[in-house]
Amino acid sequence: MKAIDIRNKYLKFFEKHGHSVIPSAPVIPENDPSVLFTTAGMHPLVPYLLGEKHPAGTRLTDYQKCIRTVDIDEVGDNRHLTYFEMLGNWSLGDYFKEESITMSYEFLTKELNIPAEKLSVTCFAGDEDAPRDEVSSECWKRAGIPEERIYFFGKDDNWWIAGEEGPCGPDTEMFYDTGKPKCSEECNPSCSCGKYVEIWNNVFMEYCKTKDGKYTKLQQKNVDTGLGLERMAMLLQGKETPFEIELFEPVMQKLEEWQNQDLIQSRRIVAEHLRSSMMIINDGGRPSNVDRGYILRRLLRRMTRHLNKLEINLAKLPEMIDVSIEALQEMYPELVKNRQLIQSVIIEEKDKFMKTLEKGEKEFEKIVAKLKKENMTKIDAKTIFNLYETYGFPPEMTGELATEAGLEVDSQGFDALFREHQEKSRLGSEAKFKGGLGSTGETEIQYHTATHLLNAALKVILGEHVHQKGSNITAERMRFDFAHPAKMTEEEKQKVEDLVNEWITAGLEVTVQEMPKEEALKTGAECMFIEKYPEIVTVYSIGDVSKELCGGPHVKNTKELGYFKIKKEEASSSGVRRIKAILQ
Ligand code: SER
Repeated sequence: MKAIDIRNKYLKFFEKHGHSVIPSAPVIPENDPSVLFTTAGMHPLVPYLLGEKHPAGTRLTDYQKCIRTVDIDEVGDNRHLTYFEMLGNWSLGDYFKEESITMSYEFLTKELNIPAEKLSVTCFAGDEDAPRDEVSSECWKRAGIPEERIYFFGKDDNWWIAGEEGPCGPDTEMFYDTGKPKCSEECNPSCSCGKYVEIWNNVFMEYCKTKDGKYTKLQQKNVDTGLGLERMAMLLQGKETPFEIELFEPVMQKLEEWQNQDLIQSRRIVAEHLRSSMMIINDGGRPSNVDRGYILRRLLRRMTRHLNKLEINLAKLPEMIDVSIEALQEMYPELVKNRQLIQSVIIEEKDKFMKTLEKGEKEFEKIVAKLKKENMTKIDAKTIFNLYETYGFPPEMTGELATEAGLEVDSQGFDALFREHQEKSRLGSEAKFKGGLGSTGETEIQYHTATHLLNAALKVILGEHVHQKGSNITAERMRFDFAHPAKMTEEEKQKVEDLVNEWITAGLEVTVQEMPKEEALKTGAECMFIEKYPEIVTVYSIGDVSKELCGGPHVKNTKELGYFKIKKEEASSSGVRRIKAILQ
């Protein structure tokens, strides 16, 4: 069955069961600079899982375009993807375990015709925070899964939360048995040997994890399910990897036809990164040196480098993009409309990169020769940094090339140098230089710092319940969305404005610290719960009035901000207010 047919069947099935079909959100989250990409179908639905009313009702279904880049370096193996589509259905305080499990079982066995004996499931084993999920297990038995194919695991396997806090709960996961032999006596669905492949995850969201690590009950019981489309298509088509399904296969074939070096991993990386890049560009992303722009740049540059490894003439790029669009157009007709744009963004980035690469690779070869002569095996931080600063040579590429040359790199040392450099750039930006900050201008940086102050001031004046829900910054103004149940009075607005200006005039220093995420959360640093934080986070403090997990950049001192003025306060959605403000 083709991916598009699985998607259509899914939406139709849940529609038949009373669900409204809602559109996919863009891969670039709207109004939310703190999250780089949409990583799961539940992401755009968080306010509704917390109790806000969704205009389309309490039963929803959709396909969601997702980007997850934590595994970017794994792409090239037989399963990792940076872009994937997640099919999902939700109950917002409507049905719960029984109905959810019954529908999943019916969809898998009746609509997709997966033989029941190929299915195994896992349920939450229980701990001090939540009981063993016997209810789900009983539902599975009633649906038709025998006891010996029902497994129980702890939080590591059967608990789902986006990031560190927020709505969460036990989940039940469905696995497809590929028929491969067990890798050992103990082989079970939690094993990664490849016998069992996870196909669907139903999360029973009835808890909320608070900042201090406690679990409270949500005001409503929700269901959030996610089914990975490419993986399902691969299994139903009897393929070993997603690269053999119709969404990738035409590109993979072309690459094989064009290549002068037979490198399967490189072909996969090219096909995969091309698709992700097209989806990001299609939703408004552009290559740059910061945040999501840098991820796009990284994807495109890595793709180009592997085309070079395959010894494929880069003049083939336009044709390669066309082949990929053709393979994807049934699923994403918008790619056809944006063809010109996609072509030009990718080709322009390729041209830039080729110039960089040429210079950088020559330099890199010199470095390797020198190290080998001296019998050294590690590239020091300064050299990596120099390649980056002088030649624009991406550090991760130095890392990759070094690995290929059998050398190590001092990446920790490089990170430290890089931060130092960013700090200097920031100082420089005060003197009207913008080095190192990519597309983020001076004014945007000022506004960015102002959002932190506004967030803190709202908490003081309105109360601790205020929480950032999103923000959007241009060189002309800032917009800030936050949770608050009522319209702000004139007096409240004035007080917030005054407080922010008081902090600006006080000349508070903005400082940045890196620390393990656990520690950061313990200090009470403010964060938007949905973000998937890396293990080491950066925390920005402004004097002692604000502390937030944030990627920056920010001004050095609040003195740089000028006069803060609220222009408008209005409703954004239910329970969420929006402030538009400027710096004069
Ligand atoms: N949120 C869950 C996941 O991403 C189920 O949709 O797996």
